[in-house]
Amino acid sequence: MQQILIDTDPGVDDALAILFAMLSPELHIEAITTVCGNAPVAQATQNLLTILSVLDLDQFPVIAQGEAAPLVKPLVTAAHVHGEDGLGNISQLRNADGSLLYRPANTEVSSITGIDLILEMAARYPDELVIVTLGPLTNIAKAIRKDAPKMRHLRKIIVMGGVFEAYGNVTTTAEFNIFVDPHAAHEVFHFGVPVHIAPLDATHQVVLTGERLHAEVDKRDSPVSRFLKDSTQACMEFYRQHVGFWGFHIHDALPIGMLTHPDYFESVNAYVQVETEGTLTSGMTVADLRRERQSSNPNAQVCIKVAAEAFLDHFFERLQ
Ligand code: BDR
Ligand code: CA
Repeated sequence: MQQILIDTDPGVDDALAILFAMLSPELHIEAITTVCGNAPVAQATQNLLTILSVLDLDQFPVIAQGEAAPLVKPLVTAAHVHGEDGLGNISQLRNADGSLLYRPANTEVSSITGIDLILEMAARYPDELVIVTLGPLTNIAKAIRKDAPKMRHLRKIIVMGGVFEAYGNVTTTAEFNIFVDPHAAHEVFHFGVPVHIAPLDATHQVVLTGERLHAEVDKRDSPVSRFLKDSTQACMEFYRQHVGFWGFHIHDALPIGMLTHPDYFESVNAYVQVETEGTLTSGMTVADLRRERQSSNPNAQVCIKVAAEAFLDHFFERLQ
């Protein structure tokens, strides 16, 4: 069983990734920390509780709220993609009697900060803990700044973020999670703990169409499948209007899949740098991914290829 801490800014695709992870028996999700990104951090924490309410849990992961602002830049959120509440506006849905359809799970948010929870978990599971980041890297960078010796004992950090050979999704050159806090990404990538990256180049290979999603949720009537349908409508409409297909990319599910089914993912070693200053290129991730040019001094493994159909089948097997 792998000991995991998820750091997240839920987020529709974060929600699917969290459910995927929680429903994967080979992973033990010890703790979940929230960070500002898709939504302000207080909303992200509420969203996390709502996501967990969909599951029938005897025991919840430890939850703590993380940072409310990136290290240097002002916060940029993504309400236009993920809805005003960050979860596809499901907080507005009501039952026939007028009561709310989705409510936050009735569990405690820890009184310690996200940073302190990360450090506590790193100390509890030295050389074992895997951190999966589904949002900007602010919490991780701040945990490193606060107690680098503890963070050196992470087993690895798996990051959804960056883009190398494709266009960005915020600017022409930058992916959202790195764009929001490029200074944090720079510090994490150069810290020295093994980093494995799932960039847009990989996540764009997995295309979840609206037709496939609806066919899958229609196969079963469960709280998870109803949540899948309800939370994804706004996001799929955004994709129809702005990306060119009805459906969406389940970016944040990929780093979870890299743990549950690593053989579906092919990666190369690379020396990854982050542009923190550029006026046109802030948040750009830069690396030479050509096999013949693989760095002799890599700081990351970058996923370049996904067995997309097999991965989608695996994802839906878990999300029952
Ligand atoms: C990333 O940005 C966010 O909007 C998604 O949740 C994902 O983590 C994709 O660029
Ligand atoms: Ca995310």
